Amino acid sequence: MKTLRILLILNLFIISLTFGKRTENLKIEKVTGPYLLAEGPHWDAEKNLLYFVDINSQKILCYDPKTKITTHAYLKCGLVSVVVPVAGKENTFIAGCGTDLVQVLWNPRTNNRNPKIKIISKVDVGINDTRFNDGKVDPKGRFWGGTMLLDSKVADPPNQASLYRFAYDGTPTTMITPVSVSNGLVWSHTNDSFYYIDSQAYNIVVYDYDDTTGNISNKRVLLDLKKTKIKGIPDGMTIDKAGNLWVAINTGGKVIHVDSKDGKVLRSVKMPVTDVSSVAFGGPNKDILYVTTARDKLSKAQIKVQPTAGSVFAIHGLGTTGSPMLACRIK
Ligand SMILES: *[C@@H]1O[C@H](CO)[C@@H](O)[C@H](O)[C@H]1NC(C)=O
Ligand SMILES: *[C@@H]1O[C@H](CO)[C@@H](O)[C@H](O)[C@H]1NC(C)=O
Ligand SMILES: *[C@@H]1O[C@H](CO)[C@@H](O)[C@H](O)[C@H]1NC(C)=O
Repeated sequence: MKTLRILLILNLFIISLTFGKRTENLKIEKVTGPYLLAEGPHWDAEKNLLYFVDINSQKILCYDPKTKITTHAYLKCGLVSVVVPVAGKENTFIAGCGTDLVQVLWNPRTNNRNPKIKIISKVDVGINDTRFNDGKVDPKGRFWGGTMLLDSKVADPPNQASLYRFAYDGTPTTMITPVSVSNGLVWSHTNDSFYYIDSQAYNIVVYDYDDTTGNISNKRVLLDLKKTKIKGIPDGMTIDKAGNLWVAINTGGKVIHVDSKDGKVLRSVKMPVTDVSSVAFGGPNKDILYVTTARDKLSKAQIKVQPTAGSVFAIHGLGTTGSPMLACRIK
């Protein structure tokens, strides 16, 4: 009995030591930047490169963790919100540029001030003052991208934007409308659920997803940030090996880990800056959470107290991994 009790105490001690160690090992490192509004991180598992955008400076960027070098291409077509590689085509990307979905030819190892750009599709036709925002590739390789009202027009009525799914030939289908600020975008590993964020609705929602047709239905609220008193705006999102969500909380200075079944907040990771825009797992073992941030809405005084605002950060030691992000299948 006594031995058992000693063993039990010893066990608890080891557990707390391990837990303590795990907490200590959480390392948040600035890897590149700062930029104005870094967004849309996408890990290329084939090349071990991180792609992202700086929306306001109209750049798509590439960070190589091995060399620590960041390269970029400038897109003259407008504000650029998302970039993903095209499957099976070397140095070929699609990007959201203004309200155009464009194909960009770019060798990501180089800087390019004038890459070749081709318009694949146009969205929000007849609506003024919107632009593409976040986008992701679904399990079947189809690109989904949503729009938002331009920051300068926030005083205008909300709900003028939409979420679109693009067929392999580039034809858009409206999936969710109206939307204020389209964000999030994650599919479950079982390919039957779709998680989505309209930032100005302050929630994370889940739909049933039909992988064959690409249709979504049966919307439910998974987590209501206002009801649960989480300060900040839900922005970009990704999924881990266990199928749970990691969500950037913009203006809230944190990334939250959310149970994808019941919406419970499992963990909150405080970031060194307030405006946290998006997240993606990367690194050779996909165990690094890359976090993009912004400084475009901060005052000079605010930047003084958070000088790394707008950088891309790497969080090491979270104890989980992500799954490969797919390249896009498009003409
Ligand atoms: C968009 O702008 C044009 C030109 O200013 C105007 O004629 C049109 O009514 C606007 N459309 C909407 C939907 O606001
Ligand atoms: C879900 O889709 C991915 C990507 O196409 C595929 O690798 C995986 O096998 C699918 N999972 C299931 C459970 O169908
Ligand atoms: C998928 O959605 C489209 C457009 O709403 C509809 O025409 C089609 O019937 C749907 N397919 C299924 C299998 O529900």
